[in-house]
Amino acid sequence: MSNSTRKKSETPEGVRLNKYIAQAGIASRRRADQLIAYGKVRINGKVVRELGTLVMPGDTVDVSGTPIKPVDETVYLVMHKPTGVMTTMRDPQGRRTIVELLPKKMPRVVPVGRLDYDTAGVLLMTNDGELANKLLHPRYGVDKTYRATISGRLTPEDVQALHDGVALKTYKAASAKVRVVSVRSGYSVVDITIHEGRNRQVRDMFEALGHPVQTLVRMRFGPISLGDLGVGRTRAVTPKELAALKRVGES
Ligand code: URA
Repeated sequence: MSNSTRKKSETPEGVRLNKYIAQAGIASRRRADQLIAYGKVRINGKVVRELGTLVMPGDTVDVSGTPIKPVDETVYLVMHKPTGVMTTMRDPQGRRTIVELLPKKMPRVVPVGRLDYDTAGVLLMTNDGELANKLLHPRYGVDKTYRATISGRLTPEDVQALHDGVALKTYKAASAKVRVVSVRSGYSVVDITIHEGRNRQVRDMFEALGHPVQTLVRMRFGPISLGDLGVGRTRAVTPKELAALKRVGES
């Protein structure tokens, strides 16, 4: 089919070009439309400028000359990442990575955000680049709850500081919700919910208050809870969880 005769309404076979690009994680649909209008996108080697053009099975698409791999089947997994594992697909230093914990023979998925090497807990993995980009976008501020074992005990002033936003070296953290789960001799267990996702943010926040983190587990990522998923195990995201993830950002 020539590019000019492609139907505009999506069919089971055809996918709108902007969606196809977004699903591959290259750009949001709106940005994809801009790329199309700027003449950066080609189907089967021919520049396509018409918004709403359909990509049909067997078509090849490239953006600025870089081929886009089609996403045939979207996959959504939850992993209980263990400590001592990198949230990357490869580690040049040869440390363990999440790849070895993934089921064999499945489409390539990527983690939605990162957990530190020493942090365990909920890690969402998908090949739906569009959803991944949305969930990571600061605008949507997906809530993440962590259970932290920290040194010492939080004072009322510490709790207030976490609520007001702790000043860190290079930025001020946004307001966090805190719940003290237990206080023991020399350490406390605290649940903390943040909606930002900066590098080592929870560790830095407690460190700044003089309560270094001893262990950290992400209990929840948006609508997805760790539940009783075993360490190192993965499970499929449930339809209900997926629907809730897709609703993120809708008012
Ligand atoms: N905050 C941290 O400090 N580490 C993580 O892995 C996630 C959030």
